[in-house]
Amino acid sequence: MKKILVTGGLGFIGSHTVVELQNSGFDVVIIDDLSKTRISVLDKITEITGKKPDYHNIDLRVKNDVKNFFDNNKIDGIIHFAAFKAVGESMHKPLDYYENNIGSLVYILQEMRDRKLDNFIFSSSCTVYGQADELPITENAPVKTAESTYGNTKQIGEEIIKETCKAHLLNAIALRYFNPIGAHESVKIGELPLGVPQNLIPFVTQTAAGIRTELSVFGNDYPTEDGTAVRDYIHVVDLAKAHIAALQRLINKNNKQNFEFFNVGTGTGSSVLEVIKAFEKASGKSLNYKIVGRREGDITAAYADTTIANTELNWKTEKTLDEALESAWKWQQQN
Ligand code: WQD
Repeated sequence: MKKILVTGGLGFIGSHTVVELQNSGFDVVIIDDLSKTRISVLDKITEITGKKPDYHNIDLRVKNDVKNFFDNNKIDGIIHFAAFKAVGESMHKPLDYYENNIGSLVYILQEMRDRKLDNFIFSSSCTVYGQADELPITENAPVKTAESTYGNTKQIGEEIIKETCKAHLLNAIALRYFNPIGAHESVKIGELPLGVPQNLIPFVTQTAAGIRTELSVFGNDYPTEDGTAVRDYIHVVDLAKAHIAALQRLINKNNKQNFEFFNVGTGTGSSVLEVIKAFEKASGKSLNYKIVGRREGDITAAYADTTIANTELNWKTEKTLDEALESAWKWQQQN
């Protein structure tokens, strides 16, 4: 049974990917420093799959601890989620973001180089495109100057991986996520924003639950149909399955270049007001919101051209926006 390391495996996307890896017959070992999640997620994963993943509480910024881990664990593939990901926070703490997001990546790649390990999947983001000139966004769209430190760590991360693959014949895939939302159907794992949610869906569900008094819609003067910004909201389980598809592509040596990247979205854009309407339908709750000014750094619209991912990964989304919002609401009610 192939053993896969999942860094950040107790996080939102990481935990859903661990479940799909176990369901696909992989042996999973998780590294997570619990800085952005809770240890209880490990038990929830075990409840869902019946298999408890091996778990290590390691800070990947400590080079020696990373080395010790690889001294004691034979790994067949790595899915690297561990990173700070709050766009706004990254602007106030750039060095924390570069130390964590880039430092941990370099230490892991150095161990892969030194031990001739292979099959690396990197958690990237559509944020590398900034405001794309054409929609839907294809993989040929140019990478633009990052608008945030968070986005820059993803761009730099991809460059580091690309150069490492070239120099050391490593095989890697970067998955450029659009907007991950929703929760596992078991309602045992989901998005756990610590503090005030930065992202739209957790703020929506917390408003519906009465934890927040009202949702602020950041701007309705965008050049879109209803004036609110458009994004591609993908169910986190569909996103998790894309990681399995990418890992199998590398394990089966079906990749066409040492370094590849794929846009992972639904291919459909939804505006903030459309999401609110869909959520109200899915939850039966009416949402209290007000229109306020734009949020700094936000782009008008982003949604994926999924052709390449569909064909090369033999993967496509199966869940709808309504299903994703319904699962998010069920998860909120559970918590
Ligand atoms: C979505 C839309 C907001 C909150 C970021 C990162 C991306 C990924 C996901 C990490 C926007 C609007 C939001 C609110 C609102 N990050 N909004 N009121 O900014 O598209 O993407 O998070 O993996 O890399 O860039 O996601 O959920 O913050 O915002 O009106 O209270 O909802 O303006 O149009 P975003 P988001």
